[in-house]
This record gives sequence, structure tokens and C-alpha cells, in this order.
Amino acid sequence: MGKKLEIVKQNVIKCTKCDLSKTRTNSVPGKGNFQSDVIFVGEAPGKNEDKNGEPFIGIAGKKLTVALEEAGVSRDEIYITNIVKCRPPNNRVPSNIERNTCQEYLKEEISIIKPKIICILGNTVFNSILGGSEITKFRGKIARKNNILYFITIHPAATIYNQKLVSVLKEDIVKLFSLIRELKNSKDITVDIEYTS
Ligand code: URA
Ligand code: SF4
Repeated sequence: MGKKLEIVKQNVIKCTKCDLSKTRTNSVPGKGNFQSDVIFVGEAPGKNEDKNGEPFIGIAGKKLTVALEEAGVSRDEIYITNIVKCRPPNNRVPSNIERNTCQEYLKEEISIIKPKIICILGNTVFNSILGGSEITKFRGKIARKNNILYFITIHPAATIYNQKLVSVLKEDIVKLFSLIRELKNSKDITVDIEYTS
């Protein structure tokens, strides 16, 4: 399992499938525990991530780490990745072409790790994976599509300038890990949104 993920990582590092490869410093493959019950999915690398080749190591990453710790979870227990593995210039939102071109890597990460649930971080990811919008209305909810479970929450960067969202993120992360415990005990959980397709 670790070997397969290592191959994905090497393919991401040398990938030139979209134009973001021309402006990036480093690609940013996913990172973390390949036996994790959950994959956290962010939008795209920022400046620090581009410089170092690691996901969520800037301020947004710090916010996520703190929320996880408050829920009693350490960063190395989980796996973190992004829908787009290279930084869009000036942190613009990745285009549909970039998202579609990069999605094979996320699909591979998911099929190798086989997490119990995928945590969607923010509106862009919600839109890319489930076609959703209005994250503030849907955060804290559980969705299911093609037999994969998703937990929807806000992007950790949203908590930087809005203190109220710090407790929202924490509350959601706590809920996510209590759900994971229920899934591990093979309890039935209530799905809020079912996608048919
Ligand atoms: N924001 C993201 O969405 N991903 C990162 O890796 C860093 C910041
Ligand atoms: Fe390849 Fe994805 Fe980077 Fe585009 S964003 S170059 S598809 S790894």
C-alpha cells in the first residue's frame, strides 16, 4: 500500500499534465498515514506548500493542526492532500481544466488508502467533488456518492480572519472523529445527503 502511494507521489512530483507545472516551484503530493481512516482534501497548495513540497504547512495548516489537536487527533494519524497538486499563481482558484486534469491523482490516493470517510475542506473542494456550493449551509453534514462517504466542513483558511469559525471547524472535526469511531464499530450512521449517479 505504501509502495503504490509512493508511485503516485513520484508521478505527481514529475507531472506536467497541466499549465500549473510551468509556474510551480514544487508539486505537492499528499502526505500522512496511508492507513488513515480519513483523507482530508484541501483546494490547492499555497506559497509555503509550493516552496517546500508539503501540504498544509502554512497558516491554514496550523489552523487545521490546532483543530485536530483539540479533537484529540495528531497530524501524523491522518492523510492530507489537495484536489490540485500544484500552486495556482497568486493563489487563484484552480480552473475546471486544472481540477479535471489533476483528479486522477486524488482518485488513486482514495483507491489505495480506502478511507472510511473523506473530509471535504471548503467550498471549492465541495464543488469539485460533489458539485456543491454554499458550504456554510452544508458544513457538518455527511454525504454519500458512489458508495463513498464524505464529511463536509469549512476550509481552515476561513478561520484566519473570522474567529467565530475557529469553533465551527473544531466542532466539525470533533463530529467527524466521533463518526469515524461509529463507523469502526460498524454502527449505522445517518447520511444527510445521498447523491444518485
Ligand atoms: N490550503 C490548501 O487548500 N491546501 C494546502 O495545501 C495549503 C493551504
Ligand atoms: Fe500535474 Fe496536477 Fe500539477 Fe497539473 S496540478 S501539473 S495535473 S500535478
